[in-house]
Amino acid sequence: MTTKIVTKEYIPEAAKCLNEGGTVVFPTETVYGLGADAFNADAVKKIFVAKGRPGDNPLIIHISDISQLPLLAKEIPDNAVLLAKEFWPGPLTMIFKKTPQVINEVTAGLDTVAVRYPSNLIAHDLIEQSMTVIAAPSANLSGSPSPTVCSDVVDDLNGRVDYIIDGTGCEIGLESTVVDVSDEKVTILRPGAITLEMIREFVPNATLDGGLIDNDKIPKCPGLKYTHYSPNADVIVVQGNMDNVRKYISCRVSPDIGVITYKGGDYPGAGLVLNAGDNMTSYAHNLFTYLRRFDKNNIKTVYAEFSVEDGIGVAVRNRLYKACGHKIIEV
Ligand code: TXA
Ligand code: MG
Repeated sequence: MTTKIVTKEYIPEAAKCLNEGGTVVFPTETVYGLGADAFNADAVKKIFVAKGRPGDNPLIIHISDISQLPLLAKEIPDNAVLLAKEFWPGPLTMIFKKTPQVINEVTAGLDTVAVRYPSNLIAHDLIEQSMTVIAAPSANLSGSPSPTVCSDVVDDLNGRVDYIIDGTGCEIGLESTVVDVSDEKVTILRPGAITLEMIREFVPNATLDGGLIDNDKIPKCPGLKYTHYSPNADVIVVQGNMDNVRKYISCRVSPDIGVITYKGGDYPGAGLVLNAGDNMTSYAHNLFTYLRRFDKNNIKTVYAEFSVEDGIGVAVRNRLYKACGHKIIEV
């Protein structure tokens, strides 16, 4: 299959392709998504084939207007109305009880559906012009880090989808916060840029799913149970007091070692050192594309400097711990 790699001038053409059952990769404010018409079972199946994604992992449906929500959600609880008013359009996905129209290919047979209303303008215009709603997982091959720049999408999906729309870099860099509002008890199933603290301002008794905190429990978000969500390199997280972190890593540097620094550690002699920045927002923005860059440079082992922080730091920790397969050194 030939993939057309285009810019936003081609949104009308790409939207027509979606409407006719094709697949289009588009930028969002979180990560790139691989979209197809959510009401077309054959189109949705193409997503699973293109990604090599297990069929038991449900997809998020993306809307371009709040008026589309009742097509998908059987009930819209008060808490969901509050959160939608505050955080939509934006990096928040909510889980609702589904309407009968939502097909099993999207929900993997669950009686709930995940819905997101992205704020990125390319995503918005594409969905609106497709005249439908769009099922879209992250636009990576199943198992690799989500793509946050167009060249990472091209590496994974060129030749496997109809269109890739280049929208340069994704602002946030980690996937949306997934919140289950289908129950009276509001639960964060996947942490993201909309943090627990932000949600608690509107829903004070919201909690984090136990599976996100306790390694022995299975997360409720089906996608989070897959551990192979990582680069080829072995990732080792080193966390604690930054002086101790740097001492620990410095003793281990060599030309085939890579390091992700946080707040600027210096490692002469390491194969590749990438700076995640000075705060967790910039760590989130850089993490996935950095993990891919180590692989491209044939780095076999990556040490990641890390410190446990609140806010979006919870989401960075969740993705980093998955990438390292829970190889965490406390110093
Ligand atoms: O930021 C994002 O959310 C990106 C962009 C493209 O919108 N999408 C994304 O999709 O990350 P994906 O498929 O890579 O991750 C969706 C997560 C998976 O872990 C999936 O298991 C979970 O949402 N999910 C989907 N439907 C669900 C449901 N009904 N109940 C619980 N979890 C669900
Ligand atoms: Mg994904």
